[in-house]
Amino acid sequence: MTQDRNRRFWNRIAQRYAARPLKDVPAYEAMLAATAARLSPSARVLELGCGTGGTAIRLAPQVAHWTATDFSAEMVRIASAKPRGTNLTFKVVDAANAFYDGPYDVVCAFNVLHLVDDLPGLLARAHANLCPGGVLISKTWCFAGVNPVLRALFRALQVVRLFPDAATLSEAQLQQAIRGAGFDIVDQQVFGPHPQNPYIVARRSDGTADRL
Ligand SMILES: C[S@@+](CC[C@H](N)C(=O)[O-])C[C@H]1O[C@@H](n2cnc3c(N)ncnc32)[C@H](O)[C@@H]1O
Repeated sequence: MTQDRNRRFWNRIAQRYAARPLKDVPAYEAMLAATAARLSPSARVLELGCGTGGTAIRLAPQVAHWTATDFSAEMVRIASAKPRGTNLTFKVVDAANAFYDGPYDVVCAFNVLHLVDDLPGLLARAHANLCPGGVLISKTWCFAGVNPVLRALFRALQVVRLFPDAATLSEAQLQQAIRGAGFDIVDQQVFGPHPQNPYIVARRSDGTADRL
């Protein structure tokens, strides 16, 4: 199954992922600032695919509670070893099952939505587990917009398990999936050099909470 293969992939590369320097520090800082502007001291936040926890550790001090989740035990082991405040909890759980403690004011999904098996299902769960007016904050690779030569290279790397299985979404498909789950897109920006990796803030568009 794709998800099991991907979990093994991320467990295997977790140490290297943790050791890699950030490619574009100003872009990352700008993305953190944009996200921080959406948070409040009373907010309960769920992060999907938190990796080694850098974003959670930076932003958790600005909210009431931050639950950072990832299906890779290795990623979470590395994240959990880092110093952090008491309002940040790390959990090993796949994105589809991460919503056990909702509702949330904010759901964050940075560089992970293109990696999940069932994007419409996950977005529906995010919508159902957000408080009225809550927001989904995401940054997602839209590989359909990537140069075809690079895409062919990614496919070759997938065959030898040096790249995870990932959806080949276009930006329009991603926006459609987000809107289709009942969100209004309220902000879209690009941080860094890749327009194929948009940062999207989407607000739950109706006023009722219906946990899935
Ligand atoms: C590209 S990394 C991004 C990590 C971090 N969010 C960041 O932006 O640096 C993708 C992360 O998503 C996790 N991941 C992939 N598929 C997942 C799933 N279905 N459920 C939970 N986590 C998943 C991987 O283990 C990995 O830590």
